[in-house]
Amino acid sequence: DLHSSSRGAAEMRPDGLIFIGKEEDIKKSGRITAKIDGREIVVFYHEGKFHALDSRCYHEGGPLCRGEIEDINGQACIVCPWHKFKITLETGEGLYEGINPLEPSPTPQWQSKGVKQRIHKLTIDNGSVYVCPPDLSVSFDSDYFAEKYKNGGELAM
Ligand code: FES
Repeated sequence: DLHSSSRGAAEMRPDGLIFIGKEEDIKKSGRITAKIDGREIVVFYHEGKFHALDSRCYHEGGPLCRGEIEDINGQACIVCPWHKFKITLETGEGLYEGINPLEPSPTPQWQSKGVKQRIHKLTIDNGSVYVCPPDLSVSFDSDYFAEKYKNGGELAM
């Protein structure tokens, strides 16, 4: 078939799931990057759970795969290495610390800006981790950078 080549492409099952890696390997390394249809994603293993997100930060495209994970108000967040934006692993929400100036003694509180980073649905089957192809009929801020860095050879760190 001249029109399709699986060389270098992610392995896709007949049911559409895309193989990312072995469960044990990701548990050991804690994170792994992959490309699905040219799109950079990162899978984290944190406190017993797998999470898959777009690898490029919704703010300006920073590499979340290089970030540290922090607990904020009981939510595991990836901290972008570029400008320290915090994104929840579970939902892809951008968090910010806000102050209500109308309060008598305002103290900063973590608040959500809503879902900014695309989360990818994971499936674990027989010791292997798979993601579902993204549903592009719904859009997220991180799509812009996913598109911009798509198939891009070198990662800006
Ligand atoms: Fe991630 Fe700016 S690019 S915080």
